[in-house]
Amino acid sequence: MKNRKRIGILTSGGDCPGLNAVIRAVVSHATLTYDWEVLGIPYATQGLLEGKVTALTMHGLDLRGIDPLLSMGGTILGTINKGDTLAHAGEIIAGYQALELDALIGIGGDGSISILHNLARQGNWNFVAIPKTIDNDVALTERSVGFDTAVNTITDALNRLTFTAASHDRVMIVEVMGRKAGHLALQAGIAGGADVILIPEIPYSIEGICEHIAQLRDRCWRKFAIVVVAEGIEAVKASSDCDESCHPTPKCGMGQYIADHITRCSTKKIETRVSVLGHIQRGGIPSALDRLVATAFGKTAVDLVAQGQYDQMVAWQNGQVVAVPLEEVILQSPAPVDANGYLVQTARSLDIYVGNGFQSSQVIVHSRVP
Ligand code: F6P
Repeated sequence: MKNRKRIGILTSGGDCPGLNAVIRAVVSHATLTYDWEVLGIPYATQGLLEGKVTALTMHGLDLRGIDPLLSMGGTILGTINKGDTLAHAGEIIAGYQALELDALIGIGGDGSISILHNLARQGNWNFVAIPKTIDNDVALTERSVGFDTAVNTITDALNRLTFTAASHDRVMIVEVMGRKAGHLALQAGIAGGADVILIPEIPYSIEGICEHIAQLRDRCWRKFAIVVVAEGIEAVKASSDCDESCHPTPKCGMGQYIADHITRCSTKKIETRVSVLGHIQRGGIPSALDRLVATAFGKTAVDLVAQGQYDQMVAWQNGQVVAVPLEEVILQSPAPVDANGYLVQTARSLDIYVGNGFQSSQVIVHSRVP
């Protein structure tokens, strides 16, 4: 019979900056405040399946007193974003039981949180979730770990591209991640001074983009432009003549697709260049805000375990960390972009083309302060 609580921690889904800062906060608070054992489960559910775990202690995490985890990108636990969990649910549940865990803290995006919640229900696990994703599309939290750093990375790329664009009078098209959500593109586009921002949630037209770029040239004496394209936008039918070459293929992402259209529809010859930021957006040193959010989330998740409050996700709402029921998070994810329409309105006021129309949707928030 063990008399100390033993908890497990895992990271699941795509990595992002700030995951190690969460792990550090959980290990520190659980071991130093509560004197619990913390087991690091590698590669998410894969680790439960294989039963290979590592005991995590603050002593083990530092290096001659220097604690590298706060500022380290990636995850020391490893992660997977594709898993055949359905086929192995029974073994994964047995893996949890074999470890004799009192609770599990899972750090993941909406997909991982939903998978882990289902496993927790089936296996009777005591489960608490922490949201992370550069896409920022987990519902009921204003912030997910990793989002702020990715916005900063994209903003930095836009700054760099602005000067080379201006020097050559070019239109720079920057394709950013986010799957079917436009949070990253919208926020980084505004912060980075983009002229056009295309996101999956707002319909756009090729004519609208080209007219806007032409107007910039005529009205503002500005011969270059920065166009931010979210990877998840849909192709549209251009009214100008368009053959196979301007439709996206698996080799040609939406950034290239938009670039091809801009080149075709412009009356004056416009030179375009495309940058696909790709996984650069998932790397790097976590920003101060991500470290803060990660630390506050990790601490609160441990407190929830201490209070026996399970099936909850820690969330950032109105500047503080609260607990929200997992059922609600799953029901309301993905989080709508710009729920009150303020950012889209701001962008348009600053003469940024953000497509045509936009239906903002208020999020219904159910929260409980732990
Ligand atoms: O969900 C995070 C994310 O980075 C998305 O923005 C992106 O589309 C996807 O993951 C990339 O996944 P992978 O690492 O499997 O290429």
